[in-house]
Amino acid sequence: METTPFTVPDITVRKNAGLTHEHDYTLAQPLQRYSAEDHQTWATLYRRQCAMLPGRACDEFLAGLETLQIDADRVPDFARLNLTLAAATGWQIVAVPGLIPDEVFFEHLAHRRFPVTWWLREAHQLDYLQEPDVFHDLFGHVPLLMNPVFADYLQAYGQGGMKAKDLGALPLLARLYWYTVEFGLINTAQGLRIYGAGIVSSKSESEYSLESDSPNRIGFDLLRIMNTRYRIDTFQKTYFVIDSFQQLFDATAPDFTAHYQALKARQAHGAGDVLADDLVLHRGSGAGWAGTDDI
Ligand code: PHE
Ligand code: CO
Repeated sequence: METTPFTVPDITVRKNAGLTHEHDYTLAQPLQRYSAEDHQTWATLYRRQCAMLPGRACDEFLAGLETLQIDADRVPDFARLNLTLAAATGWQIVAVPGLIPDEVFFEHLAHRRFPVTWWLREAHQLDYLQEPDVFHDLFGHVPLLMNPVFADYLQAYGQGGMKAKDLGALPLLARLYWYTVEFGLINTAQGLRIYGAGIVSSKSESEYSLESDSPNRIGFDLLRIMNTRYRIDTFQKTYFVIDSFQQLFDATAPDFTAHYQALKARQAHGAGDVLADDLVLHRGSGAGWAGTDDI
C-alpha cells in the first residue's frame, strides 16, 4: 500500500496510455498489451525467484505458489488464477493501473479483492523498480492469499484501514502493513523463513533478510511496529518475526482506537533502533546503514 503523496510515476503513465479504468480503479487485464519481451522478462524473474525460495520462503507461501500453478513462462491470466483463489479462500485479484488511493485500496481488501498492477517492469529493471508491478503484486502477494488465516488478516486490515483514516492514524497502520505484509519474517521449526511480499519478490532481499548480519531481527510486537519508521529506498534495517499467522491475526484483532491515541503522543523509533524490551533474535551489525529513515 502507499501512503506517500499521490503522484503517478512515469512508467505507470506510459504503460497505461490509452486505457481507462472504472471508478474503483479496476480494468480488464489488457492481455494483448504484453509483448514477447514482457513474457520473457516474467520467465526470467520467475526462474530467479524460484531458485531463491526453497529453504527461504515459508511453507505456506510455497504451497500457495504450487497450488495456484502460477505460470513460469508468461505473465499469468488473472481470470485463470481467480478460479483457484476463489475456491480456496474467496479472494479475487483485480487488475489496476498501478498504485491506487488508500481508501480505494482498503475498500478492495475489505471485500477480499487484491489489486494487482497489470503491467510488468522492463528488462533493464529486473533488480529494482520503485513502484509495484505485476511481478511484485502477483508473485509476491497472491500465493499467501491461498492461506485461510493470512487471507482473513488481509481482509481485516482493509476494514481497519478506513477506520485508521478517519482517526488520522494511517501512517501508524501503514507501518504494520510494511513490517508484516511486505517485509515480514516467520519463525518455524526449520528456522527463519520469509513471508513478506517485498522480500519474496526480490532476489537480493531474499538473501539479505535472512542471511546478512547487518539488519536486526526482532520478535513481532504490534505497538512497537506501529511506532517504528521504515526505509522505502533500500533494504530494511529491521525485520519483525512472527511465530505464526494465527499470532498475527490474533494480535491485530482488538480495536486499535486506543493504540492510535497512545502512539500519537509518542516519538517514533528509528528504523534501526533496538529497544530494551525487544525480543532480539539477531542484533544487526548496522553495516551499510547510511541514510535516513523515510517514513
Ligand atoms: N483491529 C484493527 C482495528 O480495530 C483492524 C486491523 C485488523 C488492522 C488487522 C490491521 C490488521 O483497527
Ligand atoms: Co506490495
